[in-house]
Amino acid sequence: MSGFYADKFSEDVGSFFRSPVREIFKKVDLNAIYSFAGGYPSAETFPMEEIRRTMSEVIDKYGSKAFQYGATQGVPELREEVAKRCGVTVDRVQITSSSQQGIDVCTRVLVNPGDVILTSSPSYLGALQSFRSYRADIRGVKHNPDLEAFKQSYEAVIEQVKTEGKQIKFLYMIPDFQNPSGESLTLEERKMLVGLAQKHDFLIVEDSPYRELRYEGEHIPTMYSLDPDRVIHLGSFSKIFAPGFRLGWAIAHPEILDKIYVCKQSLDLCPPIFDQYVAAEFLASGRLDENLLKSIELYKGKRDLLLGLLEEHMPEGVTWTHPEGGLFLFLTMPEGFDAVKFYDKALDAGVAYVAGEFFHPDGSGKNTMRMNFSFMSPQKITEGVKLLATLL
Ligand SMILES: Cc1ncc(COP(=O)(O)O)c(C=O)c1O
Repeated sequence: MSGFYADKFSEDVGSFFRSPVREIFKKVDLNAIYSFAGGYPSAETFPMEEIRRTMSEVIDKYGSKAFQYGATQGVPELREEVAKRCGVTVDRVQITSSSQQGIDVCTRVLVNPGDVILTSSPSYLGALQSFRSYRADIRGVKHNPDLEAFKQSYEAVIEQVKTEGKQIKFLYMIPDFQNPSGESLTLEERKMLVGLAQKHDFLIVEDSPYRELRYEGEHIPTMYSLDPDRVIHLGSFSKIFAPGFRLGWAIAHPEILDKIYVCKQSLDLCPPIFDQYVAAEFLASGRLDENLLKSIELYKGKRDLLLGLLEEHMPEGVTWTHPEGGLFLFLTMPEGFDAVKFYDKALDAGVAYVAGEFFHPDGSGKNTMRMNFSFMSPQKITEGVKLLATLL
């Protein structure tokens, strides 16, 4: 049959990009190695007993309605809870089948093939996959701690795009504990970027699934709060509850949400109803917040452990970020190091990470790698870092 299907697929299929992270998962059993790859939350944070209790409460309360189709925007109970939590009105809340769908649906309603999406370099791989699948032209900008220089880097890319006669549709940002770098944007940086969006008239997609996982420092206002009519804010239950529910939310101007609403009708008709009622009950009863406090304590301990181990064991010339929250930190090795080439050696020895170049839209960052600290036990983190450091 080889070749038979070659002319059967859409042109979009040619732009699909296989996630190297998921390829790793196919090859190895994560529990059998030291895995700093992936972004899995710790299964310890899933409140199994409370979930069991809440599920049966939902069945008692809603009966068969919990298993029927429901509104495309999401069930009113969950939309109201999310609106309260985010301090917005319900007409600005769309429940999504996770924030990955939020990213995809935003791209689908806003981007034509060839349109430009600005983002950070590095950026979230799942977003880059989605952007590529719609044949967007992705331009990444590296962070610069000097605010004026950072702004100039963006201005230069924007000017370049204009001279090419192309349109920037949106800026995609993960301002809180970014995946993969673990770093956050300061308030001044957020204001600067919102200012650029206003000046050059493009939208911003603010993707913030890690926002509530803060281990130190003060909360920084969302980009959405700086310009609620220009920013689409995406949230997720995956890291604050459990990813298996596949639930998230999009907050935006009702005119944008209306397009997302129609688009979602063709995608999945409605987000999973039973899961939404469970999430709504979890939020309303305060169980989600109680559990979140436990997750924060657990992850803070793991982050501190990893930072201490890197300090103690990493060879000279290796540097890393110091995230105030989230699930990742980012390592930079000396110039000339190739994290993709090194990967097979590391995996053979039993330790996995994700090579940083996959997160860079232009394929740079060869000497970088992402490390996750949420998934493994403290003992495995300790043994894994020692092994990786020895190999390096
Ligand atoms: C920045 C970012 N956005 C979105 C997602 C997707 O999360 P979910 O679809 O589970 O909400 C992830 C997952 O790791 C992520 O890191």
